[in-house]
Amino acid sequence: MAKLDGVLNFTDLVLRAEAMQRVVGLARRAAASTIPVLIEGESGVGKELIARAIQGESERAGKPFVIVNCGAIPDKLVESILFGHEKGSFTGAIDKRIGKFQEADGGTLFLDEISELPLEAQVKLLRALHDGEIDPVGARRPIKVNFRLISATNRDMVQLVKEGTFRDDLYYRLNVFPIRVPPLRERPEDVPELARHFLARFATEEGRRLRSIGAEALELLTRCSWPGNVRQLENAIFRAVVLSDGEELTVNEFPQIAAQLGSARDVAPDAASAAASQPRPITLPPAPVMLGAERTVPQTVAVGNGGLGILAITPHGELRSLEAMEGDMIRLALGRSRGRAEAARSLGIGRSTLYRKMRELGLEGYPREPAVQDREQRNGSFAMPAQAVGGTAIPTTGRPDIAA
Ligand SMILES: Nc1ncnc2c1ncn2[C@@H]1O[C@H](COP(=O)(O)OP(=O)(O)OP(=O)(O)O)[C@@H](O)[C@H]1O
Ligand SMILES: [Mg+2]
Repeated sequence: MAKLDGVLNFTDLVLRAEAMQRVVGLARRAAASTIPVLIEGESGVGKELIARAIQGESERAGKPFVIVNCGAIPDKLVESILFGHEKGSFTGAIDKRIGKFQEADGGTLFLDEISELPLEAQVKLLRALHDGEIDPVGARRPIKVNFRLISATNRDMVQLVKEGTFRDDLYYRLNVFPIRVPPLRERPEDVPELARHFLARFATEEGRRLRSIGAEALELLTRCSWPGNVRQLENAIFRAVVLSDGEELTVNEFPQIAAQLGSARDVAPDAASAAASQPRPITLPPAPVMLGAERTVPQTVAVGNGGLGILAITPHGELRSLEAMEGDMIRLALGRSRGRAEAARSLGIGRSTLYRKMRELGLEGYPREPAVQDREQRNGSFAMPAQAVGGTAIPTTGRPDIAA
């Protein structure tokens, strides 16, 4: 989605629904100012995209846009990562480190999953917002910072304030300009537009002749409730493009969605009977969780008795490369492990080899630390409805980002 120069603006957002036009109207206003923005919405609704568009259309376009996923940093490192530290300020602080606030100097700091920020870091953030100053860990004097803050959450912040896990004074500072992004089920008018947009993108990326989506398939997609929102739709179209041989996507390419909405017969009688008379040689079950790397869904195949295999031959008869299969194997291991050490052990490779391969695959930062996962499991922040992963039970301890 990002353009070559990496700058997004509001025209990059695909939308039709009035509710989304209101969202963009608000976001444009926010872009013209430096007011702190809090973007609220379920997972996958497009919060980050909107944050990028605000930055891209603001005076700070072209300046740093620094993203921090507050839920993905181990508690003990939060302060050092956000505010930086002096050399020797704690065990392991071998060098001085510039924090994210300084990295974002002159630009925009996007604090994603802000609800996950530990209480001590909340105090420091409040000070940064209030005084425009930060205190790096172990530093003698504060540092002035010039940042524009956009934060995002998929949690009910008012509830967290009531429970005492989020400071009310910080919440009021962050919530100066709230933007609520509605879930996709509240704006079905956007589905066809988004589906066509993703089709065009994936058909080009995958080198397919696909040009359109059949009316029945569009109707099916529009009726789906999309618990994983736009990201789930995006992944469903990606999968459909890979499955399709023709020039038009049909209901046959969306078996999980059809299954979710009841029997295929209820959905589209003609398509169901056509599918029955022409069984597909390979069925791709919903891929396992991807711990945030959902753009690169591993291709898995059911091999009977609950077993799961990595796809060796594509539905188009092409052999996949060892490199591609190895990448999928690593993603699978990360998705099913409680940490990198466990993933390395189960793959039978050393940790440093795994880290190197993860870097090559752009998978740094996954999986989350067990402490973060445990916290999420306790407070339920990672919970995604079962149908988001097609209802297939693939045991995992990771974050169930949608791959269906
Ligand atoms: N209106 C839109 N037009 C085009 N693409 C969209 C739109 N909304 C979302 N997307 C795409 O959907 C995917 C999910 O969006 P994004 O990452 O911004 O969601 P999010 O709300 O930040 O999700 P999460 O809470 O899981 O972090 C991205 O690939 C994004 O490009
Ligand atoms: Mg996001």
